[in-house]
Amino acid sequence: MKQINRRDFLKATSYAAAGLATSQVSAGNSASANNNASVIGLISPKLDIVKVAFIGVGQRGFGHVKHFCHLDGVEIKAICDPDQQVLDRAINYVTQQGITRPAAYSNGNYAYQEMLNRDDIDIVIISTPWSWHAPMAIDTMQSGKHAFVEVPLALSVEECWQIVNCSEQTQKHCMMMENVNYGRDELMVLNMVRQGLFGELLHGEAAYIHELRWQMKEFTQKTGSWRTFWHTKRNGNLYPTHGLGPVAQYMNINRGDRFDYLTSMSSPALGRQLYAQREFPAEHGRNQLKYINGDINTTLIKTVKGRTIMVQHDTTTPRPYSRHNLIQGTNGVFAGFPNRIAIEQGGSGNFHQWDTDMQPWYAKYEHPLWQRMGQEAQKNGGHGGMDFLMLWRMVYCLRNGQPLDQDVYDGASWSVINTLSEQSLNNRSNSITIPDFTRGAWQTAKPLAIVS
Ligand SMILES: NC(=O)c1ccc[n+]([C@@H]2O[C@H](COP(=O)([O-])OP(=O)(O)OC[C@H]3O[C@@H](n4cnc5c(N)ncnc54)[C@H](O)[C@@H]3O)[C@@H](O)[C@H]2O)c1
Repeated sequence: MKQINRRDFLKATSYAAAGLATSQVSAGNSASANNNASVIGLISPKLDIVKVAFIGVGQRGFGHVKHFCHLDGVEIKAICDPDQQVLDRAINYVTQQGITRPAAYSNGNYAYQEMLNRDDIDIVIISTPWSWHAPMAIDTMQSGKHAFVEVPLALSVEECWQIVNCSEQTQKHCMMMENVNYGRDELMVLNMVRQGLFGELLHGEAAYIHELRWQMKEFTQKTGSWRTFWHTKRNGNLYPTHGLGPVAQYMNINRGDRFDYLTSMSSPALGRQLYAQREFPAEHGRNQLKYINGDINTTLIKTVKGRTIMVQHDTTTPRPYSRHNLIQGTNGVFAGFPNRIAIEQGGSGNFHQWDTDMQPWYAKYEHPLWQRMGQEAQKNGGHGGMDFLMLWRMVYCLRNGQPLDQDVYDGASWSVINTLSEQSLNNRSNSITIPDFTRGAWQTAKPLAIVS
């Protein structure tokens, strides 16, 4: 059984500390046969109260803290962030809600390890820059806590295997918190798929198209202070999971089908340089960078069952937001942004035209979870309620002894597209095999249930 290589993670974290993470940990054979017990369908002992700690409370992590203040059955025990300003903001918000003051950890990049020594924490919410995700998730599970990690879960194939192995060895949950899977439309489409509305599934389209050049104006704090550098380090799909997660669940990926291989292409990388020239003085640091990530990346995934998925990434060009959210089957198609549907049998009768009136479809196919929790989710907000619903559902599963909706294999499979798209690009877009992180268990794993 391969042990977690701590030195590799320290190497990754030291890159992260420099703000220029590459996380190219050594290519060990973590996938080799081992005695690990699968964590598919993992049920951990019921928790009466879910005691939570947070690592990273910048923009995203602070949002999670706020939601946890309004969830039943949780206690916020500790918060860690080396940025004193954002740490104070989070602690103050908690105490202003009349909640007991959580312990604060701010002494440098490894203060989180001190926090993990506590024995009064059940789960840790990790919302740090990407390079920290893998080492922090591993450390969390090794300290006996469940890890809940922001997207993407990891940045290399090796990191993905290390996280999978660690979850199996510790039998701790490691969920990548793909909130988009809890969106109203995504849940409705999942319900439609399960009821066979689209017939046999053939093809999906997913994307993260979100103009974020403005983040280049964030220098010392906030997302752009570290994410900008990824555009100088890697050419590929830097952020695949928001679009891909829902499509993967529609297609029962890791639960009856799985990703087999991919091929990837990028357009020229022009937009960020042009933006820097337009928005910053010539001598500015943003004009000294070489932006290599193609403005539009298009990756095609083939599944073992022969289905195809197009995944796009574009955070640079001026265009409206989209995750595509398209699913095509033998009986029809749904597409998002804006929502539209065309069905042969059971639709308006004319599949040559889009039906854009969603109300009758919501009335018939609203997911039971959204029927139950949608109002509260929208009241609490977070990307239209999907953030609150995801956190509510995590807590619900932990308190009721139910498996989580997303497991470590999902997080690894959806995230690994990042590094594999780069590998394909560097090899004239030749196909790259996508690892089977379930080690064959996808063939017998049950599809995600339609829960209420
Ligand atoms: N799911 C979503 O919709 C969504 C939305 C936004 C961001 N995100 C993800 O959330 C994560 C954080 O993004 P953000 O926008 O909040 O960035 P951010 O820069 O605003 O926040 C990151 C925080 O992590 C802290 N941090 C850095 N190193 C740390 C360490 N060693 N220990 C403890 N804290 C550390 C920073 O001080 C900062 O406060 C990223 O992975 C991003 O992809 C997800």
